Amino acid sequence: MHIAVIMDGNGRWASRRHLPRSAGHRAGARAVDAVVEAAVRHGITTLTLYAFSAANWSRPAAEVSALFTLLRRHLLTQTQRCVDRSVRINVIGRRDRLPPGLCREIERSEQATAHCNRMHLRIAVDYSSQHSLLEACRRLQSEPGIDRARFAERLADVDHALAPAPEVDLLIRTGGEQRLSDFLLWECAYAELYFAEALWPDFDQQAFRHALAAYRHRERRFGRIVADTLATANHG
Ligand code: FPP
Repeated sequence: MHIAVIMDGNGRWASRRHLPRSAGHRAGARAVDAVVEAAVRHGITTLTLYAFSAANWSRPAAEVSALFTLLRRHLLTQTQRCVDRSVRINVIGRRDRLPPGLCREIERSEQATAHCNRMHLRIAVDYSSQHSLLEACRRLQSEPGIDRARFAERLADVDHALAPAPEVDLLIRTGGEQRLSDFLLWECAYAELYFAEALWPDFDQQAFRHALAAYRHRERRFGRIVADTLATANHG
């Protein structure tokens, strides 16, 4: 099962406490640890977290820098825990605009966890789905015979993904907004969408369990009709 999460609401969490936005992001990083742990425990095979969108470059330089420092520190401190739990780390998105120190840490974490196979943790940084789709199309222009598999491979190349991502089964967005914000537009073609009111730092393991429970009650039809309707249609 592939779960993707748009972690929204760090800023509001901080301003409600009269704290700087960076404090909200730090609290958000603690929520990341808790949700990764819960995902491993629930047997999730792929978890993709939206940590920094390409659009986030428009934020004040100090906030961008604080986010990159936090990401770097997270990789530095969490990689060994990931190895212990057999969680493979992969940072997806552009790398050409990231600080060199962060890129080095990303490579180190990816190498250190390369043998891990219990869960695949993908962290999207400087990510834009529209950019990835366009760039994949551009690279395919010179190749004959485009098909889904080849397209998915090019998309993975563009994203620095270790392999083409499985389709997203459940997309969670916290913070009360109901939009996709340029996240995994190809991979979410048949994703179930779950919007939580909780701000990301408040999204704890119990909230994660609720999202999973809601997903289990969804009927996923992938364009088919349900068995009951089919039986009625045949006998009616
Ligand atoms: C959106 O909330 C959140 C972000 C832009 C950053 C997400 C980053 C983290 C959760 C922490 C670092 C990540 C990892 C993987 C360690 P917002 O700032 O837009 O909140 P707002 O809508 O309330 O202003």
